Amino acid sequence: MRKRLVAGNWKMNTNMQDGYRLLKDILDGVRENELQSCDVHVYAPFTHLKVFSNSLNGSGILLGAQNCHHEASGAYTGEVSAEMLASVPVGGVLLGHSERRQYFGETNEVVGQKVNQALENGLQVIYCFGETLEEREANTHFDVVERQIKEGLGHLTVEQWDNITLAYEPVWAIGTGKTATAEQAQEIHASARNLLGSMVNNEVAEKTRILYGGSVKPNNAGELFGMADIDGGLIGGAALNADSFKGIITA
Ligand code: PGA
Repeated sequence: MRKRLVAGNWKMNTNMQDGYRLLKDILDGVRENELQSCDVHVYAPFTHLKVFSNSLNGSGILLGAQNCHHEASGAYTGEVSAEMLASVPVGGVLLGHSERRQYFGETNEVVGQKVNQALENGLQVIYCFGETLEEREANTHFDVVERQIKEGLGHLTVEQWDNITLAYEPVWAIGTGKTATAEQAQEIHASARNLLGSMVNNEVAEKTRILYGGSVKPNNAGELFGMADIDGGLIGGAALNADSFKGIITA
């Protein structure tokens, strides 16, 4: 009932030329019939967006950015607004990634404001959350995840949830080669879905996609995506190779 989604997060990788080649390889590799059963998104660096937007036009693959500012416009040198992204055009934005939280001090509140900006400008949002290793070892992971979702998204209206996808990314699994087991991921996904039921309503809980991210590869994607509450993946490292990205889509 929930269509699968595989999203590639390129992070700060590829120059314009290498990025363009990678995009072309992905476009060549992904078949139309695959897009019928699985949505595919590419979250590329800002510099690539205009060219990529032209290339992906009509392809069925959604293009997104990896961040936007939490204010609409103004004296914020070096920043990019949601309105700018929408005017490229891109279709979505990745918000609250743990690297943004960790290296750029983004709090749940700030990410929540970014979500507002994105939605006001008609962008789809992938909202990332997930605990650190210390938080898991201290057995606080369920609380941490609940707080991230409540504080970042608790203010949204029922209608706004149509444009939100969640992504559970345990920080200890990102880029480390350590994947959460399918069971570990499933129990967090189920608790997040439960939370949506109490925080918003059952319909939103049932229809909101919850992706798993953290060292997803073609050889572990099938097992993860086979779990009841895992609706696809947010892919970092493996999205930088067209064959492995394609392998995950096929899974
Ligand atoms: P990874 O990154 O697949 O390289 O672990 C996932 C992410 O950070 O989105």
